[in-house]
Amino acid sequence: MGSANSHRSRYNMGMRAGGAMISKPGLGWPFDQSPFHQGERALHELYGRRQQIDFAARRVIQDHLTEQHRVFFGQLPFVLIGSVDHEGQPWASMLVGRPGFVDSTDPVILRFEADPLPGDPLLRHLVDGAPIGVLGIELPTRRRNRISGRFQTLDERGFAIRVVQSFGNCPQYIQGRDLEFLQERPSANIEHSDRLTLHDRTMLAGADTFYIASASPGGPEDISAGADVSHRGGRPGFIRIDDDRTITTPDFVGNYVFNTLGNLSVEPRAGLLFADFKSGDVTMIACRSEVIWEGEELRSFAGAQRLVRFHIKQIIRLRGALPFRAVGSTEVSTEIEGTGTWSEAVQAQKASRELARWRPFRIVKKDKESRNILSFVLEPADDGGVAAHLAGQFLPIKVLAGDDGSHLVRSYSLSEVANGRTYRISVKRDGIASCWLHDRPTGAVIDVLPPRGEFIFNTATRKPVMLISAGVGVTPMVAIVNSLLVNDMRTRHAEPIIWLQAARNGGDLAFAAHIIHKVRHHANLSAHFVLSAPNREDQAGRLADHVGRIDRDVLARLLPTSDIDAYLCGPGGFMQSIYDALLGLGVPDRQIHFESFGPARVLRKQEKIRPAGSSQLIRFGRTGKAIAWSSSFGSLLGAAGVAGVTAPYGCKSGVCGSCAARLVRGSVTYTLPPVAELDDSEILLCCTVPEGKDEVVIDV
Ligand SMILES: Cc1cc2nc3c(=O)[nH]c(=O)nc-3n(C[C@H](O)[C@H](O)[C@H](O)COP(=O)(O)OP(=O)(O)OC[C@H]3O[C@@H](n4cnc5c(N)ncnc54)[C@H](O)[C@@H]3O)c2cc1C
Ligand code: FES
Repeated sequence: MGSANSHRSRYNMGMRAGGAMISKPGLGWPFDQSPFHQGERALHELYGRRQQIDFAARRVIQDHLTEQHRVFFGQLPFVLIGSVDHEGQPWASMLVGRPGFVDSTDPVILRFEADPLPGDPLLRHLVDGAPIGVLGIELPTRRRNRISGRFQTLDERGFAIRVVQSFGNCPQYIQGRDLEFLQERPSANIEHSDRLTLHDRTMLAGADTFYIASASPGGPEDISAGADVSHRGGRPGFIRIDDDRTITTPDFVGNYVFNTLGNLSVEPRAGLLFADFKSGDVTMIACRSEVIWEGEELRSFAGAQRLVRFHIKQIIRLRGALPFRAVGSTEVSTEIEGTGTWSEAVQAQKASRELARWRPFRIVKKDKESRNILSFVLEPADDGGVAAHLAGQFLPIKVLAGDDGSHLVRSYSLSEVANGRTYRISVKRDGIASCWLHDRPTGAVIDVLPPRGEFIFNTATRKPVMLISAGVGVTPMVAIVNSLLVNDMRTRHAEPIIWLQAARNGGDLAFAAHIIHKVRHHANLSAHFVLSAPNREDQAGRLADHVGRIDRDVLARLLPTSDIDAYLCGPGGFMQSIYDALLGLGVPDRQIHFESFGPARVLRKQEKIRPAGSSQLIRFGRTGKAIAWSSSFGSLLGAAGVAGVTAPYGCKSGVCGSCAARLVRGSVTYTLPPVAELDDSEILLCCTVPEGKDEVVIDV
């Protein structure tokens, strides 16, 4: 072992004199002071989770190693170390050795009996009290544990750290692998550069994992400050090389603790480490980070909550340095399967710009969801991508199902979240197009337009959410709940989610098993099935939480507070009665959202009492009826519904042409580019709103 420099940085360099901050081993975080620094806490606040994270962390984070963690570290063939150089630049290192090289004979001390990989500058960072982050991952089992500590001693056999924080992490996004040690110790080739070479580009393009070291500056008594090293996983192709000194990666939904992003918010410098377990190559990168919180790039990358761009300062390449190699196949983490790649994101951006272009999609999977609802998974049958959608939106489709061989256009809500590769719609067997779809085998091709629709979950809400559906109206709700409860481990919405689903009987209740599974994994989700005519089987299985209809009493019983966001989808009469009941129970009008699959529309409170003539008039020529325009109508079709005028209607998205009508007077503007072919005098009611101040007269 070499000797360590004795420089001091602006990072916390020691424990409080006399070890006064060290508590007696026990369960949970023993200090009043938060285990999180101000950067982490600001992000907890931003996502509305300050109390929840603080409460959970005080139970989970320890100031010492539990027996289980000590055994765990003793079994590992490698650990990741996060350290900070004399300029405050974080670095991620990999320490390797035969199991047993990490050892702990004292619950607050962890020893590493190993040299850093040849060429790794880690030893130079090991100065008195220097912040050290440790990440242990057991690849075959995907277990991981993290430590934040302070360097303590260095000798010929290795070094030791004093534990400040120790905690377990879930296995999410980790790829399972088996490693086998080489017979001989490898001799590494060390290279230095300030930009990516072809070798690096190839390595990064194929990587499914990298590690990121970050650090937060803090005073000597700040037990929340220090270094951290974290794991980042994705499908190969999740790292984009922007140029030879810049890369961009997605940040997926995590545990909302924000150790890394919290550190980057107060100190943007980071250290990355890429390890190729097949070739034994390791690439260490010192860089500066930039977090991207919104934009088209982010929206088009399936599963990404944020993007992080890294500006490279220095690269150390250790070719063939690892003493082991991966054997067998990689066990792909299920959480990663739902995430995208950069090439899919580029394709998605291109596809979403072609709003009016029909493209062929193949049915690759059919699943029965209830007695009469089938799900169809569709993937592109051309070489194009899959435009991203938001949960709640729908997909216009065109099928060759007309009696006379003509095309029919229909819309179907997407019943799954965007994954960059496929769409899923769930269709009730009903009339011509839906029956035609049900009868298609897998492999059949239909035409689709990019998703659209305004029925979108408000992700900014911090309120409890009620998702209320009847029959096939459940489809957008499934996408919404899946977008919130991302997988069995992660929720994007910490407040209560109340699922209320109505059907005739258990045979008609689609997605019930899926929702029951979600309830088992997510404490904030409760599901209530309301059956109007349960059969004997339903009664025996006690499927129904309530027999009858969803009415004011049912809602009053389940409402945690009147300050909720409610999302409704089902037949018009159903939604109107629920809307009226929710209003009566004090739920604010603007917090009730609905989607209609047919022409029926919910009449909002202000629409019922609005005096005609208060603003621009819309006149429906043939009926003699007129109504004062309100932007809450959404479209002239909406205005017709409120005025009690029956206007023909189909896709609600400017595609099928069913709502075409002659504009007699006034002018209108389109909210969506119309796809249906029209005569010069015709307009599409479903996607037009009045323009200017003049009265609009439509021949309906
Ligand atoms: C935004 C939006 C989202 C939607 N999402 C979904 C979804 O997720 N899942 C879903 O299943 N549907 C959804 N729909 C409805 C879907 O678009 C179709 O309207 C539905 O599938 C019926 O189309 P069809 O061609 O099968 O029926 P059509 O042939 O158009 O018939 C429509 C209705 O009229 C009845 N009918 C037809 N002919 C007659 C007749 N001669 N006498 C009596 N009745 C008749 C049919 O039984 C049917 O109930 C959505 C609609 C919209 C606008
Ligand atoms: S309803 Fe289809 S174009 Fe308007």
